[in-house]
Amino acid sequence: TVYQVHVTTGDVLYAGTMNNVLIKLVGTDGESDQTLLYNKKGGFYQGSVSEGNSSVKCPVSLGKLVLIEVEKQKYSIFPEDDWFCSKIAVTTPDGDSVSFPCYRWLWDREKVVLMESTAKRVFDDSLPLAQYHREKELQSRQMEYRWSVYMEGIPQCLKADSPTSLPAAVRFSFKKSTEFAFNNSYGLAELKLKDFTECKQQWTKMEDIKRVFCTKRTEISAYVQEHWKEDAFFGYQFLNGVNPMVIKRCSKLPRNFPVTDDMVRPFLEPGTCLAAELQRGNIFLCDYKILEGLPTNAINQKQQYQAAPLCLLYKNAEDKLLPIAIQLNQQPGDLNPIFLPSDCEHDWLLAKMCVRSAEFCEHQLNSHLLRAHLLAEVFAMATLRTLPMVHPLYKLLIPHTRYTLQINHMARQVLISETGSFTQISSIGGAGISLMLKRALSSLTYSSLCLPSVPNFYYRDDGLRLWNIINKFVQGIVCHYYSSDMEVQKDSELQSWIREIFVHGFLERSIPQSFSKVEEVVKFVTMVIFTGSAQHAAVNSGQFDFGAWIPNNPFTMQRPLPTAKGNTSQNTILQTLPDINISVQGMSIFWVLSRTSSDFVALGVYPEEYFTESVPCKLIKKMQRKLKGLSEEIKERNAELKLPYPYLCPEEVENSVAI
Ligand SMILES: *[C@@H]1O[C@H](CO)[C@@H](O)[C@H](O)[C@H]1NC(C)=O
Ligand SMILES: *[C@@H]1O[C@H](CO)[C@@H](O)[C@H](O)[C@H]1NC(C)=O
Ligand SMILES: *[C@@H]1O[C@H](CO)[C@@H](O)[C@H](O)[C@H]1NC(C)=O
Ligand SMILES: [Fe+2]
Repeated sequence: TVYQVHVTTGDVLYAGTMNNVLIKLVGTDGESDQTLLYNKKGGFYQGSVSEGNSSVKCPVSLGKLVLIEVEKQKYSIFPEDDWFCSKIAVTTPDGDSVSFPCYRWLWDREKVVLMESTAKRVFDDSLPLAQYHREKELQSRQMEYRWSVYMEGIPQCLKADSPTSLPAAVRFSFKKSTEFAFNNSYGLAELKLKDFTECKQQWTKMEDIKRVFCTKRTEISAYVQEHWKEDAFFGYQFLNGVNPMVIKRCSKLPRNFPVTDDMVRPFLEPGTCLAAELQRGNIFLCDYKILEGLPTNAINQKQQYQAAPLCLLYKNAEDKLLPIAIQLNQQPGDLNPIFLPSDCEHDWLLAKMCVRSAEFCEHQLNSHLLRAHLLAEVFAMATLRTLPMVHPLYKLLIPHTRYTLQINHMARQVLISETGSFTQISSIGGAGISLMLKRALSSLTYSSLCLPSVPNFYYRDDGLRLWNIINKFVQGIVCHYYSSDMEVQKDSELQSWIREIFVHGFLERSIPQSFSKVEEVVKFVTMVIFTGSAQHAAVNSGQFDFGAWIPNNPFTMQRPLPTAKGNTSQNTILQTLPDINISVQGMSIFWVLSRTSSDFVALGVYPEEYFTESVPCKLIKKMQRKLKGLSEEIKERNAELKLPYPYLCPEEVENSVAI
């Protein structure tokens, strides 16, 4: 009997090899000899399928093919040459094609076992040989991917010393690592702001900020510069800015925010009052209690300040969301006045800037770092440690973990470490960051990872539709593989997956610690994919758009918060902003972090074929059609908007947390 073998080499730089590749087929009725693959082209080239007659001959049929063993060997004088194998397809004597996904690098002296591609849960694998390899695969992954505690009280992460020590399977491609330098000089050079890095003066003219800002603008950042002082735009950003996560409908004022009807009546529609509007659901609150009393930073040898404000907003008859009262700190009192839109121009503007600076901390640390990046890492780690490649959930989730481990490792080293550039420019330094993250995790709820609901909200509209598309897809896949709750309960690998996430990620809070129903799996897995794709895009992609104009995004404040009204001028506002070199540093970070990389993979695109059966493949196609339709609709809507909301347009959403 003769088996034909076709090998596909990955389409990544240096994937090919001139070395020898040997293969052994193992079936239910026996195994072949280890056979040298013959390739007409003399080597295995990047992005190509091997050609020619690569056959494995056996005296009798091997039965049903279960797995193959692949080995790469250096050929005589050729140097060792790593090889990235995508997949191997074997045509049986009966003419069936059997696929073995690989998607990994092979080195010399390592035999790699690849299982046949049909997705199998742990109890589907009845052959002792398959069970044995399933366990061995997990054992070796658990050695390779170890949990580590970066800071007490926040999700655990991958243990690694440097980006190059990360397992090759999760590292950036050569292309991505050359074009993505996370360092200061890179962004500053692109923004042509290098000359300002030693300039620790304060800003003295708005005109100067404009000049610096103009070196690189986007359509949206230009809009922000023009409208940043307007109340309606200030309100709009809570719904459709880079952090649409804080605003809550308010039916009763918090006790520490004593806003009276007299104070705000002038800003409501005629004939109504605060109590009535609270009841109608037209009053909203942004509360930054989480920032209260955090230690603050010293920058350029100067003490910095951080508000923990409360901001009340009103949705008027035109559906505009307008701020109507701001208190800069949590404890009410004579030295903590409630600022109103009727205060003099600069008092009110500065109060709004204090809220924007609180938004910056909340956005970057809670919404972006914790809830998108760190959680995505936890999901990636649990997937790698507890699910073998043949598990349906591995096939479903692994494309949504691309680059996450490396980007997070780099962020810990160069952004949020004690000397990291983010730590250096933010109002709260290292100690503040770690306290803030702990508070954020301990107040995080499972339901808040699924979607909120507020009016006139493109984030909510687009996000909900994306959630539903992902949910239908996940439901199709999960229900295909789990036909009853009983099967969920007895899948020990699935149970260890959620257990690892519960223990190492959520530190034994907030989420289920086991699954008993199919629908629980569907909801949780939807959340995992949504978090790493759509949610991350919503809080990541607009960083430069909304953040580059520093007055709209004062990531640190250099003057004490005002304790009375009537004392703020244009000058005090400028003196409150970060120094010039700190400002350009921030612009550079936002620039680097919101660029689209050239090997971007959009949501729902699966260049790697982990699933080969017809049901999951059809579900993927169906989801892709829906995503395309949604992209068209969002683009049409955006064309009608003065300020478009592009961040959740599916073709702009990356499949994983990769930046
Ligand atoms: C920053 O990245 C660029 C581009 O990769 C590199 O050439 C440069 O040496 C890096 N600089 C530092 C200080 O690491
Ligand atoms: C800002 O400039 C001062 C003085 O030249 C320098 O000591 C400091 O390191 C600079 N800060 C940054 C973040 O570039
Ligand atoms: C206003 O500012 C001046 C000078 O900085 C200060 O002396 C005064 O106490 C301030 N007044 C109030 C009410 O804060
Ligand atoms: Fe990000």
